Amino acid sequence: MSNAELNKLKQKYVANGAASPATAFADHAENAEVWDADGNRFIDFAGGIGVLNIGHRHPKVVAAVKAQLDKVMHTCQTVMPYEGYVRVAERLSHLVPVRGHAKVMLANSGAEALENAVKIARAATGRSNVICFDGGYHGRTFFTMAMNGKVAPYQTDFGPMPGTVFRAPYPVDYHGVSEDEAIRGLMMTLKTDAGPANTAAIVLEPVLGEGGFYPAPASFLEKIRIICDELGILMIIDEVQSGFGRTGKMFAIEHSGVEPDIMTMAKSMADGMPISAVVGTDKIMDASGPNSLGGTYTGSPTACAAALAVMDVFEEENILERSQALGEKLAKRFHQWQARYDAVDNVRHMGAMAAFELVSDKHAKTPNAELAGALCKKAREEGLILLSCGMHGNTIRFLMPITIEDDVLNEGLDIIESCLEALTD
Ligand SMILES: Cc1ncc(COP(=O)(O)O)c(C=O)c1O
Repeated sequence: MSNAELNKLKQKYVANGAASPATAFADHAENAEVWDADGNRFIDFAGGIGVLNIGHRHPKVVAAVKAQLDKVMHTCQTVMPYEGYVRVAERLSHLVPVRGHAKVMLANSGAEALENAVKIARAATGRSNVICFDGGYHGRTFFTMAMNGKVAPYQTDFGPMPGTVFRAPYPVDYHGVSEDEAIRGLMMTLKTDAGPANTAAIVLEPVLGEGGFYPAPASFLEKIRIICDELGILMIIDEVQSGFGRTGKMFAIEHSGVEPDIMTMAKSMADGMPISAVVGTDKIMDASGPNSLGGTYTGSPTACAAALAVMDVFEEENILERSQALGEKLAKRFHQWQARYDAVDNVRHMGAMAAFELVSDKHAKTPNAELAGALCKKAREEGLILLSCGMHGNTIRFLMPITIEDDVLNEGLDIIESCLEALTD
């Protein structure tokens, strides 16, 4: 079927809220390239929103999934467990820097991991409240919607939100929120709203993902660790977008040396197979009763096979070093653009988790979301899939496969440069 035919079907049968505005339908893909239903080629700088850190259809992952399909596709692990689930748990337990011996539960999506992390924190502390941050993003289920630090489009049509979620400022110096102010805001939220004795967890991304690719300073994360310890609150780190090598370490929190109590992960964990994980200190993870966590599909055999293959690829193919090198290359090019174009500012990167901002006034740092939208649209017309993000909608973020070939990378960056040339004075 052609793009045009598929678009007609989409309009007729796919619910408005779930229908992508994009009009090219993916047909097949390889590493950092995708071809649509009409045979057009796209360079992929989005990676399915951070899911494809080791590229589309990595051969080792495809082989592992195919081998699993020939053995068993589903039993429901609570009905009859299988080796893949416990092997993923074993490997994550050794990989994830939470405090002490770690235990694991698997789920299907990032939002589901966050839901379960909060359930576990409530069971472990006997408290109900949760503190999240401005600009944070945790998913689209009811509780995670309430946790998101941005209303539109996630919450707009769906209120009222569940209670017991409170908000604090995230430190983004460029937009006027210093680390000290963020800590003061958190202490105020604890005092005036959440109440230390009622607060189960403080949940945050070590680098804001949807909120704009702003890394939290290590000292901010250290202070949160101390506050949590002093008040008996659990520290939950959400690595759904920043995890699995994006920042040049397996998990972004490792840059700070801080050990959280619980960590959530998903996205690049299985190269596109749906799986997520909650990993936490054993005592905390064991707090809820038998059969209190799970779901029909959680940690499916095929997704576990993919996750194990992804972890092998990280060990065998220097993905972390390549993430650091990719980040350096991106930042070098962005700094050239920053020097050349009035609209490009605030270049930042932690490994390959790289971004820049588009502004209408560099001095006043005025966000230009309109230009960000126009850049992504024009790039798509030129054959490049590019994403914006951010509290102000003006950040261009980069989530291409870390395994992208140099010539494909440079071709994509050249497209951005020609679009910037055309769209700015
Ligand atoms: C940091 C973070 N947490 C949670 C989620 C939700 O994940 P999912 O879309 O798989 O539910 C996302 C998705 O973008 C995310 O970036």
